[in-house]
Order: sequence, then structure tokens, then C-alpha cells
Amino acid sequence: MGRVLACRRDELPNGKMKYLQIDGNDILLANVDGAYYAVSDICNHAGANLHEGKINGKHITCPWHKAVWDVTNGELVQFPVRLRPLKVYKVIVDGDAVYVEV
Ligand code: FES
Repeated sequence: MGRVLACRRDELPNGKMKYLQIDGNDILLANVDGAYYAVSDICNHAGANLHEGKINGKHITCPWHKAVWDVTNGELVQFPVRLRPLKVYKVIVDGDAVYVEV
């Protein structure tokens, strides 16, 4: 599909995350220390929406069973069982605009 405008930089301050639905994909976009990252919003454990959880630095805690994910690379950080990584989307910052490539 290509790049889609996700937000303007000032709409997503450091330490915040935002939910996007682009072309049927549920996507979580986060600002970690001024850098933007996008991963699947759907937890690979049982399908919770991760943007309803908590963000602490680059770590997102799932609201349901507290799996901890690294939003910068989609990898699982902490959980009793192994889960496959979250899908990662490319983010492009162009001036004041933040795009996600889907
Ligand atoms: S649904 Fe995310 S940890 Fe269970």
C-alpha cells in the first residue's frame, strides 16, 4: 500500500503511543525519546490491544496478561512462555510528518 500519514510529530510526544488502523492492519505507533516506532497492536499471546497497555521507555506491557514487548524491534522482553515477535512496520519521519509504511 505504501506510506500513510500517521500523525504530526507534535501530536505524539515522547513516552506516548497511538493506535492506527491502516488498510485493515491494527498498528501501535510510539514515540521513544523522540524516535518513532510502529508494531502490530495485537498481542501475540491472546489478542489484546497493546495500545491499551502501558508504555515505559521502549517497553510496552500488555493490558491482559502483562507480557512485555520491545516496541523498537517487536521482540518479547518478558513472559512465562515464548511468543513470536510482533510485526514491525517501517516509520518514516519527513519534516513534521510521521508516516508508517504498510
Ligand atoms: S494477551 Fe497479551 S499477554 Fe495475554
